[in-house]
Amino acid sequence: MLLGIKNVKEIVEELNNYLADLNVFYGKLHNLHWNVEGKEFFTVHENVEKIYDKVNEEIDEIAERILTLGQRPKVKYSEYLEISNIKEIESKGYNGKEVIDVIISDFEYIINKIRNIIEKASENNDEVTADILTGSLAYYEKTAWMLNAMNK
Ligand SMILES: [Fe+2]
Repeated sequence: MLLGIKNVKEIVEELNNYLADLNVFYGKLHNLHWNVEGKEFFTVHENVEKIYDKVNEEIDEIAERILTLGQRPKVKYSEYLEISNIKEIESKGYNGKEVIDVIISDFEYIINKIRNIIEKASENNDEVTADILTGSLAYYEKTAWMLNAMNK
C-alpha cells in the first residue's frame, strides 16, 4: 500500500515524461557512440557507451517505480517522441567536441527536469521517487562536470 502519497497521477505523469526523455536520449547516445570521428574516437566512443548503459538502467528503474505506484509505464516509441523534449539528430560524423557539447546540453535539460520532479514528489510525500531521482541527479551533475572538463 502506498498510503500517504498525495497525487500519484501527477507524479506518474512526470515520470512518464521523463521515461520518454530517457528513451529518446538512449537512442541519441547510440547515434553519437557510432558516429563519433577523429582523434578522440576511442575515448568518446567508450565513454558514451558508459553513459547509455547508465541511462538504460535508469529507464528500467523509472518504469518499475511507475508500476510500484500502481500505474503503467508508457512503452510506445511513437508516444516517447511526441512527449519528449530531447531532440533527435542526424546520422552523420561528429567530432569529439561536438559529441560532448550535444550531451552536455541534454544533461542540462535532464538536470532541470529531475529537479522539478523531485520537487513535485516531495510536495506529494513521495520520498522514494524523490530519493531515486536524487541518485540520478548526483550522476548527471558529476558526469556533467567530467564532460565539461573534457571539453576545455
Ligand atoms: Fe558499441
